[in-house]
Amino acid sequence: MTVKISGKQKFSGTFTVPGDKSISHRSVMLGALSKGTTEVTGFLTGEDCLATISCFRAMGVYIQQNSTNVTIKGGQLSKPTKTLDVGNSGTTLRLMSGILAGQNFTCSITGDESIQKRPMKRVVDPLALMGAQVSGVYAPVTIEGRPLKGIKYTLPVASAQVKSAIILAGLFADGETIVAEPTVTRDHTEIMLKYLGANIKREGNNIIVSKSNLEAKPIAVPGDISSAAFLMAAAAILPDSHIMIKNVGINPTRTGMIHVLRRMGVDIKLHNEGVSCGEPIADIEVKSAPLKATIISGAEIPTLIDEIPAIAAVALFAEGKTIIKDAEELRVKETDRIQAVAEEFGKFFDINPIQPQEDGMVVQGGMPLKAAAVSSRGDHRLAMSLSVLGMAVVGDNETIIENAGCADVSFPGFYQLIQEGGIK
Ligand code: S3P
Repeated sequence: MTVKISGKQKFSGTFTVPGDKSISHRSVMLGALSKGTTEVTGFLTGEDCLATISCFRAMGVYIQQNSTNVTIKGGQLSKPTKTLDVGNSGTTLRLMSGILAGQNFTCSITGDESIQKRPMKRVVDPLALMGAQVSGVYAPVTIEGRPLKGIKYTLPVASAQVKSAIILAGLFADGETIVAEPTVTRDHTEIMLKYLGANIKREGNNIIVSKSNLEAKPIAVPGDISSAAFLMAAAAILPDSHIMIKNVGINPTRTGMIHVLRRMGVDIKLHNEGVSCGEPIADIEVKSAPLKATIISGAEIPTLIDEIPAIAAVALFAEGKTIIKDAEELRVKETDRIQAVAEEFGKFFDINPIQPQEDGMVVQGGMPLKAAAVSSRGDHRLAMSLSVLGMAVVGDNETIIENAGCADVSFPGFYQLIQEGGIK
């Protein structure tokens, strides 16, 4: 699908965004492992989360999905009759591997072309230490479930997916599994497991988990801050914008972009703060303001890893050079997001203001942009950040984004929403 984006004067209104992708995946996986019936509301109906549903159905779990409502009857998983297909979803691949390691059957998992290039050794190694037999360092991988034993493992990369895979395997292991996390990453697995009654606790940098019986409970998925990011970016960039995004997850392991935008000068306020199923939520109000460059690095990176394309778009409108470093993980996302952002964003300019670095990028703000013909390269977050840039073009020329349909992976209805909020 190709979309055309016209320039907008401002972006305003009150919006809701689809359910959090990370929490939606976990609701199906943990619902499938819980005793009883799990009722999920606010589920993200994007392609990635639907892939998780289809994988667990293939393992005999009864799952009924009616738009954003999902009912899961948990219990035993059974051996699937064919290779499980995760489509484009890295979260499904990594987390499900942890669960499969503790089952009493063997099965294979594969996915699309992009998934087959994403590193799995980081998951395979700790699962093998726990006693699972896993072959393949890229999908397709075959996992032979075995009786597992708890391990103490220090994460070599700051990855919530790897951490979660080990924790989930730990639910089936004898003894304690301890995951040491040098840099804090999103903790939705830990929060949901605790909510469902698992033996899990955090002590400093260590997450400690052991065999647990999970009891089904209702799960309300909050709006995804990683989707809200594109609306926040548009509101930050377009002068006189003023938006409210209702019911967004503001787990502190995910709110790096809010801190960065505030540092850049954007006026952001939180309203109606509360907690839902252990997850902090709020309404986010964003008003545009003159922007200044910032430096983003170190422990802040995992708290905004998926928002970097949106943040890079904002940085193009800031006074000065924004530096993003310690973000080499961007190279192994849905695309190499350092290269893809530098090359595709660069098409809006006569001289490319983005210099890619091995572990991030340097973004020169304040250069005039013009409408461009660009490609998402099949990456949902690239498609949406390119749309934000298209909205910021002054004049009548339209930006043409090829392969734009992938926005559906995390944000069904995105193009319609920016059309509604974008004021010409
Ligand atoms: C996710 C963790 C992050 C993130 C991804 C979702 C999760 O990946 O980029 O979109 O749900 O656990 P890594 O764990 O590879 O950093």
